[in-house]
Amino acid sequence: MVLKIVFPLLILAWSGNGNAVKHSDSASEPRQFPEHFRFGAATASYQIEGAWNVDGKTDKSEKDNEATEDVRQFEWGQYAHPIFSESGDWPAVMKEKVAAKSLEQGFFSSRLPEFTQAEIDMIKGSSDFFGLNQYTTALVYRNESVNGKYPVPSYYDDIGAVLYQPEEWESSWSGTTWMKIVPWGFYKFLTKIREDYGNPPVYILENGCSTDVGLQDDVRVKCLKLYLDALLDAIDEGSDIQMYTVWSLMDNFEWYEGYADRFGLYEVDYNAEERTRTPRKSAYYYKELLRTRTLDINYEPDMSVPMTIDEGK
Ligand SMILES: *[C@@H]1O[C@H](CO)[C@@H](O)[C@H](O)[C@H]1NC(C)=O
Repeated sequence: MVLKIVFPLLILAWSGNGNAVKHSDSASEPRQFPEHFRFGAATASYQIEGAWNVDGKTDKSEKDNEATEDVRQFEWGQYAHPIFSESGDWPAVMKEKVAAKSLEQGFFSSRLPEFTQAEIDMIKGSSDFFGLNQYTTALVYRNESVNGKYPVPSYYDDIGAVLYQPEEWESSWSGTTWMKIVPWGFYKFLTKIREDYGNPPVYILENGCSTDVGLQDDVRVKCLKLYLDALLDAIDEGSDIQMYTVWSLMDNFEWYEGYADRFGLYEVDYNAEERTRTPRKSAYYYKELLRTRTLDINYEPDMSVPMTIDEGK
């Protein structure tokens, strides 16, 4: 059985404290990927997005940390907990919160349908791998300002927390408001999967960042380096991550964003009748990464060499 998680939002929340990301001190040393690790470049996939919350600098209150864990359980625990947790079923916090709100709102029973024990048992463990699409991270807080912020009843009112991304976090492109570059959120998410769900095999089915038109996509190369470095940190600490798929092979229709946001290693000229595809700098970088199976942050592609499709091994 293949796990398919459909969740169209683009945020994962994280909370915690301290700079848990170990970004290798020897930052400039090339890092090898494990022998059986697989790579890809996607043109379509399903996604679950991680909202996280921590910048390692803010002294989060107990309340904010709890709110962040609640967001995580609603945003992706909702899908992952029934399948990957030891106990199965919805996350406890989701059951409690929706039931309490429902009662408050005069419903006769919880708006969250209950699984039967047979369903819990059937769903639990029914996957071959944990398929993850991850781009960015949000911070979370909970205080009086949530009162009246959301419609009642609503999903966000049930969670009762506020997600946000600090202005000062770097965007990959100003046109994509949500795409903040947050590799530590990726690392934390991968670590959380390992710790909470008994280290299942993880396939990264989407990861990447948006840019404007242009072949010199240094930001995308930077994203690749930072996120893959974070992924290798998680692997070093025991995470069973077996595959990385970059989003995307070429520019394409990006749901809410249409054609404005470019995610491709290859640029597509939408004005040309042939929809001409041209490799960006990131295509050269990714090709070398696949060839060497090594993350070398010092590698500078020579874009004057024509791109070729080489024989695989
Ligand atoms: C709630 O917390 C946020 C983030 O720390 C802060 O900006 C806001 O002023 C707070 N609101 C209230 C009502 O305490």
